[in-house]
Formats: sequence, C-alpha cells, structure tokens
Amino acid sequence: MSASMRVPMLDLRREYAYMKADIDAAIRRCLDHQKWILGPEVAELEEKAADYLGVRHTIGTSSGTDALVLALRALAIKTKDREYFDKGDQIITTSFTFTATGDAILRAGATPVFVDIDPDSYNIDPDRIRQYLVRYTQGARAGSAKVVGIIPVHLYGQACDMDEITAIAKEFGLFVLEDVAQAFGGSHGNRKLGSIGTCGAFSFFPSKNLGGFGDGGLLSTNDGEIAEISRMLLKHGGRDKYDVEHIGYNARLDTLQAAVLLAKLTYIDEFNGRRKHVGSLYAAELRKTEGIVVPLSRTASDHVFHQFTIRVLHGRRDALRSSLKESGIESMVYYPVPLTDMKVFHERCVTQENMAVTKRAPHEVLSLPMEPLMEDEEVLSVVRAVRDFQVTGHSA
Ligand SMILES: Cc1ncc(COP(=O)(O)O)c(C=O)c1O
Repeated sequence: MSASMRVPMLDLRREYAYMKADIDAAIRRCLDHQKWILGPEVAELEEKAADYLGVRHTIGTSSGTDALVLALRALAIKTKDREYFDKGDQIITTSFTFTATGDAILRAGATPVFVDIDPDSYNIDPDRIRQYLVRYTQGARAGSAKVVGIIPVHLYGQACDMDEITAIAKEFGLFVLEDVAQAFGGSHGNRKLGSIGTCGAFSFFPSKNLGGFGDGGLLSTNDGEIAEISRMLLKHGGRDKYDVEHIGYNARLDTLQAAVLLAKLTYIDEFNGRRKHVGSLYAAELRKTEGIVVPLSRTASDHVFHQFTIRVLHGRRDALRSSLKESGIESMVYYPVPLTDMKVFHERCVTQENMAVTKRAPHEVLSLPMEPLMEDEEVLSVVRAVRDFQVTGHSA
C-alpha cells in the first residue's frame, strides 16, 4: 500500500454501517411510539449510563455545554442558595480546551481562572492549581474573590491526575466538575471518569467516543440535590413547568438521540479498545521519529484516545500538516487558540502568571486521523507520510 492512501480524520459512516441493524431498530421503535420528548429511551439511557459509570444519577441534556452549565447552576443554587455564582466566585480550569469549558463558567456567573497545563498530557497541571490556591490564600490575590471549584478537562480522552486534583479540592473545600466531553468510558484507576468529582459533564456530539446523531450530553453525579436541581433547570426551572422555581432552560436530551445512544452504548468498550489499539500502534511506530513527541500514557487504562495528538517540534507543525494534506491525509489542530486569547474571556477571567506550556501547545499539537474502525494499514500509511516528511524536511 502506498504512503499516499487517503485517510480521513473520521468517517462516521463506517460506525453506522457496523451498528446499522441496532441503530435502525432503535429508531424504528421511536417511530412506533412517537414519544419524542422525554420518551422511555431517555430514562433508560440515564439508568444504563449511571450503571456503566458507577454513579447514582445521570441526567440527559441537550448538549455537553448544557451539562456543564446545568451542573454549575445547580452547584450555585445548592451551595449559595442563589441562581448564579457571582464574579467573585472563581473556578480554576485550563485554557487549552474547547470554548465551552470556559464559556459555561461565564454563563453560570463565575470567573474562570486559567492555570497552566502539563507538557506531557496537555491536561491541567495540579501543581499549578495548588500554586494558585496557596498564593491566593496567603493574600497575594486581594479582594473578596473566593475559589469555589475546579473543572479538570480529560483532554483528548486522557484522564487528568484525579488523585491529586481531588486531594487539592478536599484540602481547600472546592467542588470538582469533570469535563468528560472527550472521554466517555475512560477511567482513572478503577473508577470511571465522571464518577470521581462532584459532577461530570459528557458530550454526545457526533464525533465523540460516544456520539449521537446530533447534539446531546449527560450530567453525572452522586449528589441527589444536584441531580434534582439539574432536572428542574433542564425543564424550564421547576418540577412543574407551569409553576417554576428557578431560572431554567429547555435543555432536554431528545428521545431520538437517547435511542441512538442506547444502541451505541453497547459498543463503547469494544470501540474504546479499538481506539487504544490504534493509539498504541501510532505511538509505537512514531515514538522514535525525530521532532515528533507521541502522547504519554501513565497507565494503559487512562487514555481512550478520543484524539491521537502528537507534538511537532522545531516549528514544523504547519509544514507537516500541509505535507500530509498533499498526501490525502487529514489532520486537525485542537486547539489553535487558548481561551485566554479569546475576546470573550478578556476582562472576564484571571490568568495565572507564566502560562508557557499553554502558549506553546497551539503551535505544536497535531491530531492525526483516529477512529475505532481504522485499519492498521491506514494507520501505517499515516505513519509513513509523517516519517517521509521528516526525512525530506531534514535533507532539505
Ligand atoms: C472539552 C469539551 N468540553 C465541552 C464540550 C461541549 O460539548 P457540546 O459540543 O456537546 O456542547 C466539548 C465538545 O464539543 C469539548 O470537547
């Protein structure tokens, strides 16, 4: 097979073909019962997801973003007895993430505090969280601001250091909202991601490890009060939509999405296993390539490779990307702009001093094609194209 085999980032048609009989049957059941809003599939998905994740409650939502917002709003209502956090309430997170992580903090009324990331995993660096909290409690941050929580993002499918993060949260009395948008089915030790913090927020965006046929999300928690408040918020803010208590939303998960997701949930372990195989093959083949840094996995279980993202050194990332494109190989940059550099966060966030790793990452990262049903030959074709570029580049 030549190095110029075309390889897309992701071709969801393959997944559909693989599961077609199950998905079509699930959709047909919805067509028969016609219960489109909070139909039986939503409750069934919530039950099965709770079981799978090992949490007491899960609540289907209209997107991962909404799951984050609902969790934060419920936390504000529960802990402050107010509809929203206020600007003095700070939430520590990473700025090397999708916009929604930080945006949800603003929408819940709080202030994001961006701290630097770890250079190996791109995940939030617990040492930098601690550094911020220690300086802050020692009075370096004057005024009435108070850190209330942490949002770790399990970026690219790799678990954050949850032992360290939960220890810090306990020590400083903070909530932890896990952003699990990219890591459904991933674990840390023997616990599923999304079951370790106070709450978890998942996305069912079609390209995710568990993806629907449109937008969808899920909130997970062991806290009955947070579950109850979130359920009210997603249905306009009340137990009874004609007599509401809180400022709510219409943020329900569609029955049809739940039906598709129920069918796909039965494949999640198989598919995450396939992703790990693809990730390991890439890593083994590219590990010794000069100028390329492959993702490091602390343990076999903590990376479910939503993305396989390399670092390209010596300022050659964009040149490699163009060269791959010429060979018919797609790649993506997640993320080209850290949240700290986006206009919406200017004047609305606190940024830790020395964000060197966050600043460098957008110029170095490159996500290569990744999907569970990729053939080894496709992976090897991408590998050859990367190596060819390196060889040509160095002799030029
Ligand atoms: C890290 C992260 N957080 C939050 C979201 C938001 O999820 P959604 O697109 O379902 O609103 C996404 C995905 O798009 C994401 O990747």
